[in-house]
Amino acid sequence: MDTSGIIKKIEEYKKEAEEFKSVNIEEIEQFRIRFLGKKGVLNSLFNEFKNIPPEEKKKTGQLINELKQYVSDKIETLKREGEQKLSGQKKARDLSLPSEHIILGSRHPISIVKNEIIDIFSRLGFYVSEGPEIEDDWHVFSALNFPEEHPARDMQDTFFIEQNPDILLRTHTSSVQVRVMESEKPPLRTISPGRVFRSEAISARSHCIFHQVEGLYIDKNVSFSDLKQTLDYFAKEMFGEKTEIRLRPSFFPFTEPSGELDISCNCEGKGCNLCKYTGWLEILGCGMVDPNVLSACGIDNNKYSGFAFGMGIERIALLKYNIKDIRLYFENDVRFLRQFTSAL
Ligand code: PHE
Repeated sequence: MDTSGIIKKIEEYKKEAEEFKSVNIEEIEQFRIRFLGKKGVLNSLFNEFKNIPPEEKKKTGQLINELKQYVSDKIETLKREGEQKLSGQKKARDLSLPSEHIILGSRHPISIVKNEIIDIFSRLGFYVSEGPEIEDDWHVFSALNFPEEHPARDMQDTFFIEQNPDILLRTHTSSVQVRVMESEKPPLRTISPGRVFRSEAISARSHCIFHQVEGLYIDKNVSFSDLKQTLDYFAKEMFGEKTEIRLRPSFFPFTEPSGELDISCNCEGKGCNLCKYTGWLEILGCGMVDPNVLSACGIDNNKYSGFAFGMGIERIALLKYNIKDIRLYFENDVRFLRQFTSAL
């Protein structure tokens, strides 16, 4: 038998295979079936191969095998290219795919409440002032009319820096207000949020570090009713429209008269554990600025009067979120922190 016919065929098929080009998976499959399928080109060549004379078999067999190898390799390569192109297209074009999940952090409850307090008082024209956490005796105690022997100056309550009785960690942010009174001229309307330190045992109810917002308003003819009105507004904005306030007489060296402000408990007087069955919850200390404080800070106490108030942010947050243990604020357990979200 003449083998030139089959060799010619092999060459033609080779040419056809070489010319085939596609990244379309279906077209590649058609190509595979045409060459490698049961009734494909290669099987028919192998069938023909059976009939050629033995001395021609070696050369022809080699050519058929080469064609088979070439076609198999080509299919593999084309498939890979096709898949790559397809996944690239998907990434670039499929706008309907859900976006990757981004886990947003949440603000610390103390920051949320602090920002809310600032927000409420800024609506009344109060601006924020800040000062150092490491202070001197003058700004924390002396200027604020603390008598020499006042227990707040005692080692029990105050952290001193390197045994120096004059340099200490501020025990309240009233120190910032002294700085404002010393450096600015009335009228003054400022709030000072910040971290404060007291040498107290850590328990569910108290901590050696906590946060305060203190407020100060100084102008001509400031009266106790201005104070009461301001605090009533704050309580209603913070805890809801229905909140009632109650002022009880108290004592602070820097205010006279002094008071403590209670808000009505959500149990509406029915009595609950939180308000210890009194119907009232204490939220802050306040009073009219003592004239001695005004003059110590260089303000004419015949011309000006003022009110001041101070609250612990932990306590406000505790009442707002019903948190039972103050230590939770400082442990930074994400299971606790994750529960707080806010726009502020
Ligand atoms: N400075 C007081 C405290 O730390 C709070 C306070 C501020 C009370 C202003 C009265 C007036 O407890």
